[in-house]
Amino acid sequence: MALRPLLTRKTLGLRLPQLRGLQTFSLPDLPYDYGALEPVISGEIMQLHHQKHHQAYITNFNKALEQLDEAMAKGDSTAVVKLQSAIKFNGGGHINHSIFWKNLAPIREGGGEPPKGSLGWAIDTHFGSLETLVQKMNLEGAALQGSGWVWLGLDKELKKLVVETTANQDPLVTKGPHLVPLLGIDVWEHAYYLQYKNVRPDYLKNVWKVIDWHYSSEVYEKESK
Ligand SMILES: [Fe+2]
Repeated sequence: MALRPLLTRKTLGLRLPQLRGLQTFSLPDLPYDYGALEPVISGEIMQLHHQKHHQAYITNFNKALEQLDEAMAKGDSTAVVKLQSAIKFNGGGHINHSIFWKNLAPIREGGGEPPKGSLGWAIDTHFGSLETLVQKMNLEGAALQGSGWVWLGLDKELKKLVVETTANQDPLVTKGPHLVPLLGIDVWEHAYYLQYKNVRPDYLKNVWKVIDWHYSSEVYEKESK
């Protein structure tokens, strides 16, 4: 019986599709219009921030994951390690912004209303009051050198609320594997410069008027059990 010639990529002269599907990420819709957070955050900032900055992190995250897939298929360990910083930066940018959009809401839809339920109690217990927490996050956010984020997180191991900052696009989990982000505030200049210029403390002072605690409360309820 004649053997069939072995069909390889070379003999077929084309690139066979990857056998396993590669997960890619896409830009999540905002749950409000770009101008809905005005006058606290301008529509121009929101549109650029979402359509350009967040989209760029996603595009570059997907590109890095594709390169990782190729490097893994080739068994190229150097290339795998080389891609880690691009994955952390762009993947972190996607994770952080996806949380940030959920932490905001127009004033008419509950933005700025203090947290209720168990998260409200936990904030009073750990920080004394919401005002003290806001002051602490504003101070730490203003003091952060360069670009980054200020977070309210839940330490699942110690069962306590924590305030942390992360540099660049590092997600909160880089500060500890048990940390769950509840509320993240973007203190990159792209988040405020067009409106607040170099005065980051004014942006931080105002942003609380459009902070929506529903998402934080839901995550807290789920993760603190
Ligand atoms: Fe940002």
